[in-house]
This record gives sequence, structure tokens and C-alpha cells, in this order.
Amino acid sequence: MLRSKIIATGSYVPEKVLTNFDLEKMVETSDEWITERTGIKERRIAEGKQAASDLAFEASKAALKMAGLKAKEIELILVATVSGDMPLPATACILQDKLEAKKAAAFDVNAACSGFIYALAVADAFIRSRSYRRVLVVGAEILTKFTDWEDRTTCVLFGDGAGAVILEATEEDRGILSARIHSDGSMWDLLHTPGGGSRNPASKETVRKRLHYIKMRGNETFKIAVRTLEGLIRDTLKENKLKTSDLALLIPHQANLRIIQATARRIDLPIEKVMVNLDRYGNTSAASIPLALDEAVRIGKVRRGDYILLEAFGGGLTWASALIKW
Ligand code: UT7
Repeated sequence: MLRSKIIATGSYVPEKVLTNFDLEKMVETSDEWITERTGIKERRIAEGKQAASDLAFEASKAALKMAGLKAKEIELILVATVSGDMPLPATACILQDKLEAKKAAAFDVNAACSGFIYALAVADAFIRSRSYRRVLVVGAEILTKFTDWEDRTTCVLFGDGAGAVILEATEEDRGILSARIHSDGSMWDLLHTPGGGSRNPASKETVRKRLHYIKMRGNETFKIAVRTLEGLIRDTLKENKLKTSDLALLIPHQANLRIIQATARRIDLPIEKVMVNLDRYGNTSAASIPLALDEAVRIGKVRRGDYILLEAFGGGLTWASALIKW
């Protein structure tokens, strides 16, 4: 049976750190509130000139290096992002140019915070259908350029970064065992950026009304996320005839430590088996899972044969999981 397996990972975060104490000087908030309500202590902020493809490029180079591959050996490039370089073309094409991955097809996947797992699911389907044998999947975001720095309910949450994986076809009994993707568009307005698209094209008016910034009804999103993620994980385990205790590591989207803890509690997973790095990076949307996965791989938290579960919930609404036998 043909599967896809992750043969390498890479990640990159910008150097500039913005701490909760820095935010105290910008909006009416406190380190105590942010830490208690989110678990975030600091986040990385891209430089003025940096775009999503620049972060994606660094993460991809690291993954290629780990794999010992040249960019021209990549057949497909998928970039999950909602903060791409520009509306047109796809950030994946700009990344392809930077990498000189001349043989690859390239396109973006927009599923907000679930974007990386969506892209992984697309790559997995292409590999299993024998369309491509080697795919680069990247999550890259610079949400801080779409953050309203006067809105304390959102500006304390987001950070910038990128993570990449390289998938390869394998006949071995390991790799991605299942990838589930789900959406409910009826709640799209819980988390959205109203301006800059064809609904409200960029104008002086849209800028004056701050429509090009991310709007989120956080508390409602929070409650739906916790409920949905429990069901998603239970379904994924059941589909694969596994129990919670079979999992070596859960790598959740890093939106809020309370969501992560509540999810782990509901499925009876000890928190030591959950990869958490949002204290250092905040919510990096589609980049959060590949960032955390790369860290887990590089610090030796992931071993051959381990069952690893990735899960995410985000704007759309979208949610997704991927079960991997490493
Ligand atoms: O990544 C994709 C999906 N995203 C998520 O899953 C995010 C989900 N949401 C969350 O993480 C949380 O809802 C937040 C961290 C955004 C907010 O935490 P909360 O516990 O849901 O707080 P809340 O929105 O109910 O607000 C509680 C209070 C409010 O004051 P009042 O109305 O009770 O007086 C807010 O105005 O906290 C206030 N508040 C703040 N206070 C200090 C909101 N933001 C801040 C802030 N500093 N930064």
C-alpha cells in the first residue's frame, strides 16, 4: 500500500521578540492577563521588509538540508497561509522561484489555522494517487502585519513564523495513516479579515475603518474549538483503531494553552504528551504545527514507530487532524 511519510522538517522564526511587557506599553493589558488567558509570554515579529515567502524560504531550506535533497527534486510545493506576500500570485509560486525548484507545481492552501493539515491532506492524496512522489508542504504566516495594534482582544495573540515538511511516497507500513479535514462556513464571520478582497476592495475608506485587520469573536471561537477538537480526536483514533494511550505525542495548533489543556483533559492524555511552544511564539496560524513538529523532531521527542497526532481548528470555520506513524 502506498503512503506518504515525512522525511524531513524545517522551521524559521524572525529574530525580533515582542514580550507581554512590551504589549503593556501599547494597549490596556497585562502580562498576567495574557499569560493566564492564553499561555503566551512572547511572540516573534517579522521585519518591515519580510514577507511570508521569505520565512517559508528559510524553513524550506532547513527541511531540504535535513532531507539531503536539492530543490529541483521537489515535484509539488504547497504553502498554507492567510498572510501571503500578495493577493496574486500564490506565495507558493514566489517560494518556488526563491528555491529554484524548477520542476515543481506550486499553489497555496487557505484554511486559516487548519491550513497546514489541509495542505498535508492534499499532498497525501496526490502521493497516494501516484501523481507526485515528493512534496514540500509549508505553513508560513506574518499575521502581525494584519493585526490591529489598537485592538487588545487580538493583538496579544498572534506571532510570525514558518515551518516546512517534505513528504515522500513509501511502501513501508508508516507515514500518514489518515488525514481528516472539515469545514463549517456558516460561522465564517467568527474570524475574518473584512477588507482588501472583492467584498470590500482596498480603499481609503476600508483603511480608515481598519477593515484590513483580523477580527475575531474570541470567546465564541474558543468554546466551539474545545468541543470540536475533542470529537475530532476521538473520531480519528477510532477510525484508526487506536486508543488515547497509544499516542506518543499530540501536536496541536497553538492558539491558546487553555484550549490545548482542555482538549488533552477531555481525551485523557497526560499534558507531558502534548507539544506546546506557544509561550514563545504565540498563535502563528498555519505555521504553528510545522513549527512545533520541527522542534519536536530536533529535540528528539519523536521516535521511529511513534503514533503522532496533529490537530487544528481555525477560521472558516475549519478543523483537521492527521495521524502519523513516524
Ligand atoms: O487560532 C484560530 C482559532 N482561535 C482561537 O481558537 C482563539 C480562541 N479564543 C481565545 O483564545 C480566547 O477567547 C481569548 C484569549 C481571545 C480571550 O480570552 P477569553 O477568556 O475568551 O476572554 P473574553 O474575550 O471573554 O474577555 C474577557 C475580558 C473582557 O472584559 P469584560 O468584558 O469582562 O470587562 C475583555 O474585554 O477580558 C477583556 N480582555 C482583555 N483584558 C486585558 C480582552 N482582551 C484583553 C487583553 N488584556 N488583551
